[in-house]
Amino acid sequence: MSSAKPPAPAPAHGPETLLLGQIVDFTADPFTSPPESAARHLSRGGILLRGGRIVEIGPASQLTQAYPSARRVDYGAALLLPGFIDAHCHTPQTGIIASWGKRLIDWLNGYTFPEECRFGDPVYAATIAGRHLDLALAHGTTSLSSFCTSHPESVTALFQAAQARGMAVVAGKVAMDRNGPPDLLDTPQRAYDESAALIKGWHRQGRARYAITPRFAPTSTPEQLEVMGALWAEHPDCPMQTHLSEQIEELAWVADLFPKDEDYLAVYERFGLVGPGALFGHAIHLTARERARLAESGSAVVHCPTSNTFIGSGVFDAMGLAHQRIPIGLATDTGGGSSFSMLRSMASAYEMSQLNGAPLHPAHLLWLATAGAAKALRMEGEIGTLEPGTAADVIALNLASTPAIAQRAARAEDIWEALFPTMMMGDDRAVKAVWVAGVNRR
Ligand code: GUN
Ligand code: ZN
Repeated sequence: MSSAKPPAPAPAHGPETLLLGQIVDFTADPFTSPPESAARHLSRGGILLRGGRIVEIGPASQLTQAYPSARRVDYGAALLLPGFIDAHCHTPQTGIIASWGKRLIDWLNGYTFPEECRFGDPVYAATIAGRHLDLALAHGTTSLSSFCTSHPESVTALFQAAQARGMAVVAGKVAMDRNGPPDLLDTPQRAYDESAALIKGWHRQGRARYAITPRFAPTSTPEQLEVMGALWAEHPDCPMQTHLSEQIEELAWVADLFPKDEDYLAVYERFGLVGPGALFGHAIHLTARERARLAESGSAVVHCPTSNTFIGSGVFDAMGLAHQRIPIGLATDTGGGSSFSMLRSMASAYEMSQLNGAPLHPAHLLWLATAGAAKALRMEGEIGTLEPGTAADVIALNLASTPAIAQRAARAEDIWEALFPTMMMGDDRAVKAVWVAGVNRR
C-alpha cells in the first residue's frame, strides 16, 4: 500500500463570489441632490455575485457571516465601483488615435475615412475589435457604445468580440451615403437593409444592443436620414446614435446642406431622429431652442471632453445641460478623443467645467461615467450601478496607484477627496481588477 497522502481537497466554495473592499454606491442623482451625499460609502464593504449578477451589497462583516461558503476576493483598501461605461466611441478608429494637427473635417478626411475603408476585411475588423475591447477592459470600461464603419462586417466583429468577453456592448453600422470616399459610402436602401439585418441578428442577443447609427447630417442625404428615421420608428427599442453640433465649421456645413432647417437639431427632428433613446455625441454649440427640444423630447447627449479639446471643438456645458434634466453620458470618443481611459475623460470633463465656471464634483464625474451613462443609454437596471439584480460588472480601483496619487490621497478626509486624485491623475495602472458578468477578466 502506498503511503503518499492524497491531495488536499479544494476548498468547498458555494456558487457565490464575495468581493471585499471599499465601496461607493449612488443613492441619488448628484445633479438633482447634493453631490457629496448622493452616494453611500462603505469603508469595508462586500458585493455578493451569483450567476453573473449582483445579489447583495452591504457591510463586509454582514456578508461574510451570511455567506460563509462564498469564494472571497479581498481587494483591501481598493475601491469597488460599477464598471465604467464609455457612451460614445469609434472602435474602428483605435489604430489612428492621437493623430496630429487637424480639425474635424480634415481629420475625418485625412485620418479617419482612409482607416475606416479597411473594415470591409473581416479579419482586420476582428483584430481591431478585440484590441479595442481589451484596451477598454484594461482601463476599467466594461460597456461601451460604438460607431462601427459602414461595413456590416465591422459590427459583426465587434459583437463577436464583446460576446467572447461577456460584455454589454452597443454598436451600429454607420450609415453614410455622401461626402466620404466611395469605399465607405452606402445608399439609403443598403443602409436600411444592412441595419435591419444586423438588428435581427444581434439586437438583444445576449448582452448585445444594436444602435441605429447615421454618422451625422453632412454624410447622409435627406433620403438616407428619412429611411433611418423609418427604421427607428420600426425598432423604437433600439438606441439611435449620431453626432450633433461638434464644431463651428460643421455647423456652417449643415446650414449649407440643409438651408430650410432652422438649426442642426431641426434636421434630425424633420427625419424622426429625435426622442427617447437618441444619443447625440458632442452637442457643444447648441441654441436655446435646441437645448429646450433635447430636454422636452427625452433625448440624451454625450460629453466627449478629450475629443473636444483634441480636435479643437469647444467647451460642453455639462452643468447647464444636466440642470435642464437632459441625460448625459461621458465618453472617450476614441480615436477623436486622445485616451481610452474614462478616468482621463473625467479629468478632462472637470477641466472643461472649470472653464465654464461650474466645477463638476467628483460625484458628478463618477455618475457621468456609470449610472448617468447607463440612463442615457436606457440601460439602467442592467449596468452602471451596484444594485442587486444588475449585471456583475464591477471594477476595483487602487486609489494609490502611483507615488504622486498616493501622497495626495493619503491626506484625504473623505472618499471623494481620496478618489479625486485618481480621477485627475490616474490611468490603467489604477485598475486593479475587472469583473464582467461575474467573471474576473483582469
Ligand atoms: N462627426 C462625424 N463623424 C465623426 C467621427 O468619427 N468622430 C468625431 N469626433 N466626430 C464625427
Ligand atoms: Zn464620435
